[in-house]
Amino acid sequence: MCGIVGYVGKGNAQDFLISGLKRLEYRGYDSAGIVTLSSGGNVTLLRAEGKIVNLENKLAKNKRKDRIGIGHTRWATHGEPSESNAHPHRAGNIYLVHNGIIENYKELKETLKKHEFKSETDTEVLAALINSFYGDGKYALADAVVQALKLVKGTYGIAAVSAKNPEEIVVARSGSPLVIGVGNDVTLIASDASALVGHTKHAIYLNDGEVAVIKKDNIEIKTLNAEPVSAKVEEIETNLAAIQKGGYEHFLLKEIMEQPESLTETLRGRINKKAGTVHLGGPGLSESELRKIKHLVIVGCGTAYHAGLLAGYFIEQFTPEITVETVIASEYRYRNAYIPKDSVALIVSQSGETADTLACLREIKKQGIPTIGIVNAIGSTIAREVDGGTYVHVGPEISVASTKAFTSQAIAMVMFGLTIAQAKGVKPGVLRPYVEEIVKLPEEIRGVLNDVKEKVKSVAKQYFDYDHAIYLGRDTAYPTAMEGALKLKEISYVDANAYAFGELKHGPLALVDDRFFEMTLVPEGILYDKVISNVREVLARGGHVIVVTNAEFDLPVENIIRISSDLKIFAPILMNLVLQLFAYYMTVAKGYNVDQPRNLAKSVTVE
Ligand code: AGP
Repeated sequence: MCGIVGYVGKGNAQDFLISGLKRLEYRGYDSAGIVTLSSGGNVTLLRAEGKIVNLENKLAKNKRKDRIGIGHTRWATHGEPSESNAHPHRAGNIYLVHNGIIENYKELKETLKKHEFKSETDTEVLAALINSFYGDGKYALADAVVQALKLVKGTYGIAAVSAKNPEEIVVARSGSPLVIGVGNDVTLIASDASALVGHTKHAIYLNDGEVAVIKKDNIEIKTLNAEPVSAKVEEIETNLAAIQKGGYEHFLLKEIMEQPESLTETLRGRINKKAGTVHLGGPGLSESELRKIKHLVIVGCGTAYHAGLLAGYFIEQFTPEITVETVIASEYRYRNAYIPKDSVALIVSQSGETADTLACLREIKKQGIPTIGIVNAIGSTIAREVDGGTYVHVGPEISVASTKAFTSQAIAMVMFGLTIAQAKGVKPGVLRPYVEEIVKLPEEIRGVLNDVKEKVKSVAKQYFDYDHAIYLGRDTAYPTAMEGALKLKEISYVDANAYAFGELKHGPLALVDDRFFEMTLVPEGILYDKVISNVREVLARGGHVIVVTNAEFDLPVENIIRISSDLKIFAPILMNLVLQLFAYYMTVAKGYNVDQPRNLAKSVTVE
């Protein structure tokens, strides 16, 4: 997520802006910038790609004693990480920083012919839109902001200043947090309170649909409909770490719990609920090119590989004549694998920098196969080298163990499969159930997380002294079990391995003894009877069985964790939430480092 800071007061704006941006670095970013205004309206705009130190190097030669300014750390969503795409963006006398996604920025841009655009960002479009009301003096800055926001679709948290009036900052939010720090003859702004700690203990949390005019000694808040809002000043949390983790103890738990929001961002603007169809612009394949696809190769490592395996099962269910092969990048890049000409390769990577996946991409491109990225990090190497792509927009994933990216990658690939099926003329009646469940998924995820969290925590405590585990599932629950086993092994160091339930009797059943517990996924309506007999096989050997299920279940297992949801197709996605939380609580019980497990890196840029 991007970070916003703002300062208006009697001290030095540049000092606060830089220190505030540093406090927000944990949110992840790829460029940064600040703008300050002198009392006479002289502007000092500094922006830099990469880390804040690059911005500080520019600042060293541009020191000012200005008393008003705004700043931003950018996590790219529209347009590569670069100085020209970094915020603040200018339009006339206006300078704007923005968090969020303006969905209709392309349509709005068409109406702003007078503005000479210098970036690829949706933010510059918003700046130009505000200026289209402000530039000719018809509206004050706050009123111009309101007029513009009334035309915007999407999410925003913004701060704007004008060189014509270097006394005030206008802020507004809808879907992207903003907090106003209240001090003595100074008013501060930030995306979250971590930038305010040490500067003030009092804050006003702006609500969606509110606009505020901030001066050093006055704060005026209104709704977009000009109704006055009485500001509620609250005490802020002064524990920095707690704020940066959104109040959670670890980033991992924060990222597990924010999956309703992160998946919502993945789906944003890509589903026509009424028509029951999906629309992915990024892959850049025409209807006829989509129609011709006969073979999908899905390439990834670790969690990305598991997301591809899971998506592959779903895609085969609703797309006729398509074969799907999901491969481990570090293996595939050295195989002499032939890819049929009527293929497309999906390149899956949260970081977009994984060396093995990147190497695979380059090998596949040499065969002239179209490559589509399923990536989170905008402007990453893989994102730049694929032929087309779909960003999953889950925001930075800080914890080494990938969670929210998995869910969004799997669903993004299912949506790509749906676009192929739509182009191939698959009956809407076949596809609609998938689309309808995807639309419901964010709120179902919220419900399951809230339902199971405490139960999973207590079950995990019962097994925390185990060092071995077997994870079991069939069909779409099998790649889910694989992902769950990876989560457990990579943060709790338990030797957890997943097997297709039907494979048990071909060897792994020999493992079952008191050293192991068995985590078994029992989805309703997905080979249920077979799975029940598989569970019986384990019980008959004295297994310590935990069942995760959304079905009726009454076998004498040690623990049952029930998922209550009316989703059937994507029940394994919901079951995976239990496995994520189970790995988390096992690791907490063992006292290990949840966010930075031993031996691992968040992005494996070496082979
Ligand atoms: C997942 O929890 C691991 N951190 C790891 O397996 C990761 O999924 C893998 O390294 C791929 O990373 P990427 O998605 O950034 O390419």
